[in-house]
Amino acid sequence: MTDKNIQLTSTISEDNKLTLALQEIDMPQPGADEVVVRIEAAPLNPSDLGVMFSAANMATAVQSGTDENPVITADVPAQFMPSLKTRVGKATPVGNEGAGTVVAAGSSDAAQALMGKTVAVIGGGTYRQYHCVNVQSCLELKEGTTAKEGASSFVNPLTALAMVETMRAEGHKAIIHAAAASSLGQMLNRICIADGIDLINIVRRDEQETLLRDMGAKYVVNSSSDNFIADLTAAIIETGATISFDPIGGGQLSSDILNCMETAITRDVEEYSVYGSDTFKQAYIYGALNRGPITLNRNFGFAWGVNGFLLFNALGKLGTKTVMSMRKRVAEEITTTFASSYTHEVSLAEALKLQSIAAYGKQATGEKYLITPQA
Ligand SMILES: NC(=O)c1ccc[n+]([C@@H]2O[C@H](COP(=O)([O-])OP(=O)(O)OC[C@H]3O[C@@H](n4cnc5c(N)ncnc54)[C@H](OP(=O)(O)O)[C@@H]3O)[C@@H](O)[C@H]2O)c1
Repeated sequence: MTDKNIQLTSTISEDNKLTLALQEIDMPQPGADEVVVRIEAAPLNPSDLGVMFSAANMATAVQSGTDENPVITADVPAQFMPSLKTRVGKATPVGNEGAGTVVAAGSSDAAQALMGKTVAVIGGGTYRQYHCVNVQSCLELKEGTTAKEGASSFVNPLTALAMVETMRAEGHKAIIHAAAASSLGQMLNRICIADGIDLINIVRRDEQETLLRDMGAKYVVNSSSDNFIADLTAAIIETGATISFDPIGGGQLSSDILNCMETAITRDVEEYSVYGSDTFKQAYIYGALNRGPITLNRNFGFAWGVNGFLLFNALGKLGTKTVMSMRKRVAEEITTTFASSYTHEVSLAEALKLQSIAAYGKQATGEKYLITPQA
């Protein structure tokens, strides 16, 4: 272990500027129930970009500094500044998860048991070389699993599993998922195929349809097709899906989904009711890929809910026993069901190059970056 520890931070200043930079910080000392993990791999996911770019307009981004120590600045539109006031002037560490080797451990048995092990970690600030975390925030990876394979063990795997558990807990029998060719969407397909759950995938491009069908997905509908509404309704009639998860948010997709559910449910009803069907239809919005307004065109009666869905809140509702079994499944199936793939590996400095930012900032299918902070 060296004395050098570097982290990537995101700062918003009073003059409406975002600054992304590398910062030298102290080497952490673990408390009794903590371990220090040498972070060897950390994914760049949309949720990380939310912290990293915040509300900045990245089209205005400029790079300065040196090759080893790049600095990115970008403008934050004035209308967003009031909602960011708790961030102003604070260098916020970036990175929700990652994996690496435990190089120092506190005195508790649980911490000592992890010494030398490869673990995945969850908890703000993984885009750094050495991270100190509580043992509860670690997932011990199976022997032979590499840090790169385990880097995305929490955010996407647990969210995909939480969707399935939420479907079960809330009494639905099939799921509709949007932006379904995402990393998370591919995991959800593997879970649903393995567990015999009907999953309707909504994608927006032909190649995404092919990708999911080649994985064995039975229901894939394309929102760019003229037949989208008819195709979605037909798939809902076949599966009985009454719950959806949409990471896009802005626009009217969740509204379209609720309307298709209602059409499917009421298809054989002969008597008109101004209140619609009494079958409860749930639309969860779990991302902000489109930051525009959410539009609801209400032709779906009164038995419906549109709610936010966040992993940590969902885990709280599902309870410790379910969460422990979800974590166990992830550790066992991290190279199969929950495998992530990355198109580029970049050092902390390379992650702050305009060229990299332009690529991973697109959040496009199959364009995921992995940060390797030791490089
Ligand atoms: N709420 C939570 O707790 C939670 C937890 C985990 C993940 N998430 C969310 O889950 C989503 C997926 O994460 P990921 O890591 O799996 O993503 P990813 O692999 O980077 O894929 C992103 C996907 O979104 C699509 N996309 C991007 N912008 C879009 C838009 N405006 N309209 C429609 N589709 C769009 C992309 O398709 P194209 O190639 O067509 O652009 C791509 O398939 C993210 O939004 C993330 O924030 C939320």
